[in-house]
Amino acid sequence: MPITDTPDRYGSISRFFHWAIAALVVWQLVTASARFLFEDSWLDELLWGSHKPVGLTILVLMLLRVSWALINQRRRPARVNLASHLGHVALYGLLILIPSIALLRQYGSGRAFSPFGIELMAGFEGDEIAWMEAPANLLHGWLGWALFALALGHVVMAVLHRVSRHSPDVLPRMTNVTPRD
Ligand code: HEM
Ligand code: HEM
Repeated sequence: MPITDTPDRYGSISRFFHWAIAALVVWQLVTASARFLFEDSWLDELLWGSHKPVGLTILVLMLLRVSWALINQRRRPARVNLASHLGHVALYGLLILIPSIALLRQYGSGRAFSPFGIELMAGFEGDEIAWMEAPANLLHGWLGWALFALALGHVVMAVLHRVSRHSPDVLPRMTNVTPRD
């Protein structure tokens, strides 16, 4: 398995980013659902502590992933059609925007933030910074749910492309399944 991408398939580094971020997004779905459905329950208490650190991890991995995608731009698999391309761009955009506005809100709240024990934001005394909190207050949750829906559509399309004889089988680009004959 080559490290870099080729026109036939994504290489090992792109695959690592894809599957690591996919797993973390599923984890965000679990933590957000526990909060939405059972706020303040024992399940919410158990899971919520990981929501912010995992969200930050997604952002860091996404910034690396975008750099890697740009480096591999000329050799990675060609887009299947405009819709799939726009879908992937939307996924990329949401995976960066959603944690970014949440971190901005976190800073503006004046509360300390120490993911994984590392002091990223020391917090401050005094008034909260309203303009930093407004984007996430308005959009963070909604965009999060939209991301989960789009990701579900993405998975369904990946499987449909494989079963439909009229469209290219893209699964072997990102997984080790044998290509459809
Ligand atoms: C079982 C789950 C999944 C399967 C089978 C799957 C499958 C695939 C396949 C086959 C491709 C290549 C498509 C192509 O080249 O046209 C791809 C690309 C992509 N997938 Fe997934 N995926 C899954 C989950 C996810 C999740 C949860 C996310 C994020 C929320 C995600 C985000 C992306 C993105 C952004 C691309 C574009 C790749 C790039 O250009 O870097 N996928 N996926
Ligand atoms: C890709 C990463 C992320 C996703 C997909 C995501 C998703 C979500 C979703 C869907 C909700 C709504 C839950 C509900 O309706 O009760 C939510 C809430 C929340 N998230 Fe995230 N989140 C991410 C990253 C982050 C980060 C990095 C932080 C903080 C640094 C954060 C802090 C919060 C907070 C404080 C709430 C509750 C307030 C609200 O609904 O806006 N999230 N998140």
